[in-house]
Parts: sequence; structure tokens; C-alpha cells
Amino acid sequence: MNNFLSKIFSMLLVATLASVTLFITSCEGPAGKDGLAGTDGKDGQEQCATCHNSTNLLFAKQLQWENSQHGKGTSFERSAATCAPCHTNDGFLEVASSGEFNTKAEVMNPTGQNCRTCHHVHRKSDQTDWELTYTGDVKFRMSNTTHNFGKGSVCAMCHQTRALSPMIDITKTDSTYRVGSSHFGPHYSSAANAFVGNGAFEIPGPEPYNKTVVHMNVLQNSCVDCHMGKAYGAQAGGHTMKMKYDNGTTLVDNISVCKGCHTDANVTNFDFYGTQTETRNLLTQLREILVTKKMIDTTSSHGHWEHDAAVPGSYPTLHAAALYNYRWAAADQSWGIHNPKYIKAVIKNAINALQ
Ligand code: HEC
Ligand code: HEC
Ligand code: HEC
Ligand code: HEC
Ligand code: HEC
Ligand code: HEC
Repeated sequence: MNNFLSKIFSMLLVATLASVTLFITSCEGPAGKDGLAGTDGKDGQEQCATCHNSTNLLFAKQLQWENSQHGKGTSFERSAATCAPCHTNDGFLEVASSGEFNTKAEVMNPTGQNCRTCHHVHRKSDQTDWELTYTGDVKFRMSNTTHNFGKGSVCAMCHQTRALSPMIDITKTDSTYRVGSSHFGPHYSSAANAFVGNGAFEIPGPEPYNKTVVHMNVLQNSCVDCHMGKAYGAQAGGHTMKMKYDNGTTLVDNISVCKGCHTDANVTNFDFYGTQTETRNLLTQLREILVTKKMIDTTSSHGHWEHDAAVPGSYPTLHAAALYNYRWAAADQSWGIHNPKYIKAVIKNAINALQ
């Protein structure tokens, strides 16, 4: 073949090959996803072994978490748009990225809290998956103020009070407020609000509201620093998030998490400086006044004061605020430890307002 013909021939060959290739490609189904790219020189399987391996990295956390109230809780049937953010995994992840207080719709196939609620399970399948799903500022439903809890922000998203509607205006002292339902109040966990001194009505009274939130200031990761300290078996600390363990006969306070700062050798339980005893006594006093005034019904709460029912009715504004504050302090459940001086002031001034 002369030069010219051979050029034409090879051009034709190229064109034919190209159209055949095009034909074959166009007959193929869509290209599959690329396999998991190994990082750090690891192939996909080795990468899975970052976590799924012969150590108990995952297993220890699973044991602890299953023993937590979260692991035992069966509250994820509360999947309506207003409940799902705190009672389901799916709702939590939705609001953590949307920044809204409610989900767009009811969660249709709800799951309860699990590893995926707080960690990015299988996002990249490497160590960065352990980063928390929420670490930003937390906006409170009750006050619209924002607060940063470090790693504890993930907790404060759920362990905060719900909004009260209508709000109580405590400046209207000569007016009344209608408590519309037995559920009136902050809902069941006010821990995050109490921790930063927020969400209770600051009823004027003899006791100043101390704004120096000691534990918020010294603990970078707030909730996590105390509730997820060194694990005691699978009974307290770590992913159990529990503050007490069972020694066979009684529940023992896991004070090892306090000892780093409160070094006093006499400290053997959480009742430092009698704070818990004093808070419990004050709250008992407030509870008794509310029973006498027939503002709460304690018959079905079985020792869980946060489950006392409010008695619907119209009350003087400051009495309604005092009732709210009782439920706020009861729902905190730390007997003062989350914010010692502030919690005591909230209760004392509520007692004063009812007398
Ligand atoms: C960063 C840690 C990590 C890496 C890396 C990782 N996993 Fe997982 N994996 C988890 C966690 C956490 C769970 C959930 C465990 C639980 O629910 O108790 C899980 C659960 C699973 C399950 C059980 C079913 C499920 O989804 O809950 C399978 C199967 C699984 N992983 C496969 C893999 C494969 C395959 C890889 C590699 C491509 C991989 N994992 C990489 C942490 C990891
Ligand atoms: C801001 C987060 C949040 C929202 C929103 C929320 N809850 Fe809760 N709820 C909690 C937390 C946290 C607890 C558990 C408190 C504890 O045990 O310390 C709880 C506990 C409860 C309890 C009592 C304990 C139990 O498990 O029986 C009921 C009942 C309940 N929630 C129902 C609802 C319903 C119904 C809705 C929607 C109308 C809702 N919650 C919305 C955070 C929330
Ligand atoms: C309610 C939120 C929450 C849930 C649910 C949760 N974790 Fe965690 N996890 C945390 C927090 C917060 C930390 C950081 C603790 C610290 O820094 O002391 C953490 C840390 C870890 C670590 C250490 C990561 C590292 O950087 O070394 C592992 C491993 C882990 N979690 C596994 C799990 C597994 C497995 C599950 C499910 C059984 C789970 N977690 C469920 C909040 C959660
Ligand atoms: C998705 C919402 C959510 C997140 C996130 C969350 N919790 Fe909870 N927590 C709950 C609910 C709801 C309950 C009640 C048990 C249940 O139904 O799961 C609860 C129960 C608890 C309890 C036991 C309360 C009791 O009455 O005995 C403790 C302690 C606790 N949480 C601490 C934490 C800490 C610490 C974190 C952060 C590391 C955290 N929680 C993160 C919703 C949440
Ligand atoms: C200074 C340590 C400390 C910090 C920080 C802390 N807590 Fe607690 N918390 C306690 C102690 C102590 C108790 C238990 C008191 C008791 O029952 O004697 C408690 C009780 C609780 C309870 C009631 C259930 C239980 O375990 O008794 C919940 C829920 C809770 N805390 C959530 C939180 C959340 C959410 C945060 C962060 C906003 C937080 N805590 C920060 C020490 C702490
Ligand atoms: C990171 C350090 C740190 C840790 C951990 C810590 N605290 Fe504190 N706590 C402080 C500081 C600082 C103060 C304020 C100074 C003081 O009164 O000793 C304080 C104050 C208190 C007070 C109030 C004292 C008063 O003035 O009325 C009580 C009660 C208390 N802590 C209990 C606890 C308990 C219970 C734990 C463990 C569950 C704990 N703390 C863990 C640093 C810490």
C-alpha cells in the first residue's frame, strides 16, 4: 500500500473502532459506583478493619451504650414532627442539619437513638467517621438563645426544655395565667438549660440569681466530661452516660469524674458541701406548697418528681411561674449539681412567690 492509501485505511480503522466502541458503550448499563478507595495505602477491606477488627473498640462501646437508658429506651414511637428531633435517630439528624426545631414531616420508618445519631457511621469509613454529628452552638427552644457545650452540644440538642406556649410574662404580677394541661411545663429534661442558668422564670425574690456558671466555665465538653468519664465496667461512665453504678446492694456515686477538680479526700459522694441535700429539701418544700395549693397531682409519679402532673386552672401569674420552675428543677434531675447556686435560687424564689 502506498502512503496515501495506508493513511486512509488507518483513518477508516480508527473510525470503525471508535464507532464500535461507542456502540458497545451505549449498549452498556450505567457504570457501577467505584469501589471504596483505600486511604493511607489501605485497600477497602483493610479500611473496614480500622473498626471491624479483633480489638474490642466497637464491642466495648456497644456494651456500654446498650446498658444506657438510651439503649433501653423505647421512645422512638414518638415520631411526630414535634417529637422526632429528640425521640428518633432520623429526626435528630434532620434537625441537626436543617437547624429547625421540628422535622418537616412525621418520620415514617423511625429508629431509636443509635451509633449513627452521634457518629457518621460509614460516611468515609475511616477514623473521621467518629467525629460527632453535631458540635455547633445549640439554640434553646424556650429562649431562642444559643450556647456552646463543646462535645456536649450533641446532648444539649435533646436534653433541653420545650418552648412554652403561651409564654408567662412575669412582669404582669396582677394578672392570671391559664395552665391548660397536666403536661404544662418544661417537658422531661431541663439539664442543658439548668447547666447554663436558662429557661426558668427569674421571679424576683430574696435570693440573687448567680450568673457564674461554675461547671459550664471549667468543663470544656460539659455533659461529656462528667457523664462519659472513665467507664466503670458497663455500669457507669463511657457510653452508659450513667453517674452511678450498682455495687450489688446500693447505687454508688461515680465520683471519680469529680476528683480531678474536687480533690478533698472527704468527698465520698456527689453531695459536696451538702448541695444535693439542701436542693432536695428546698424542692420538697416547694412541692408540698404546690400540693397544698392543689397545683400539682403527685399520685402517679412514683418517686419521679419530673412526672408529677400539673393541675389545669387559672393561677396568679407568679404562681404559674413558680409551678413551671418547680417542674424545671425536678426535670433537671441533678439535685443541684448541674448549676448549684442558680438552681437553689430558682427554687427559693419560687417558694417565696407562693407564700
Ligand atoms: C470508623 C469505624 C468503621 C469503619 C471504618 C467501618 N465500619 Fe462498619 N460499622 C461501624 C459502626 C459504628 C457500626 C454500627 C454498630 C452498631 O450499630 O452497634 C457498623 C456496622 C456495620 C455492619 C452491620 C450492619 C450495619 O450497617 O449496622 C456492617 C455489615 C458493616 N459495618 C460493614 C462495614 C464494611 C464492609 C466496612 C468497610 C467498607 C465498614 N463497615 C467500615 C463502624 C465502622
Ligand atoms: C427537645 C427535645 C424533646 C422533644 C421535642 C420531645 N421530647 Fe419527650 N423527652 C425528651 C427527653 C430528653 C426525655 C427523657 C428525659 C429523661 O429521662 O431524663 C423525654 C421524655 C419523654 C417522656 C417521658 C418518659 C418516657 O419515656 O415515658 C414522654 C412521655 C415524652 N418524652 C413524650 C414526648 C412527646 C409525645 C413529644 C412530642 C409531642 C416529645 N416528647 C418531644 C426530649 C424531648
Ligand atoms: C448520644 C451520642 C452518642 C451515641 C449514641 C454514641 N456515641 Fe460514641 N461518642 C460520643 C461522644 C460524645 C464521644 C466522645 C467522648 C470523649 O471524647 O470522651 C464518643 C466517642 C466514641 C468513640 C471514640 C472515638 C475516638 O475518637 O477515639 C468510639 C469508638 C465510639 N464513640 C463508638 C460508638 C459506638 C460503637 C456507638 C454505638 C453503640 C456510639 N459510639 C454511640 C457520643 C455518642
Ligand atoms: C436524640 C436525642 C438525645 C441525645 C442526642 C442524647 N439524649 Fe440522653 N436521653 C434522650 C431520651 C429520649 C432519654 C430517655 C430514654 C429514652 O427514651 O431513650 C435520654 C436519657 C438520658 C439519660 C438517663 C436519664 C434517666 O432518666 O435515667 C442520661 C443520663 C442521658 N440521656 C444523658 C445524655 C448525654 C450525656 C448525652 C450526650 C452525650 C445524651 N444524653 C444525648 C435523648 C437524647
Ligand atoms: C459536673 C458534672 C456534670 C456535668 C458537667 C453534667 N452532669 Fe448531668 N448529672 C450529674 C450528676 C452528679 C447527676 C446525678 C445526680 C444524682 O442522681 O445524684 C446528673 C444527672 C443527670 C441526669 C439525670 C439522670 C441521671 O443520670 O441521674 C441527666 C439526664 C443529665 N444529668 C444530663 C446532663 C446533660 C445533658 C448535661 C450537659 C448539658 C449534664 N448532665 C452535665 C453531673 C453532671
Ligand atoms: C473541671 C473541674 C470540675 C469538675 C470535673 C467538677 N467540678 Fe464541681 N466545681 C468546680 C469549680 C471550679 C467549682 C467552683 C469552686 C468551688 O466552689 O469549689 C465547683 C463547684 C461545685 C459545687 C458548688 C459549690 C458551691 O459553691 O456551692 C458543687 C456542689 C460541685 N462543684 C459538685 C461537683 C460534682 C458532684 C462533680 C462530679 C460529678 C463535679 N463538681 C465536678 C470544678 C469542677
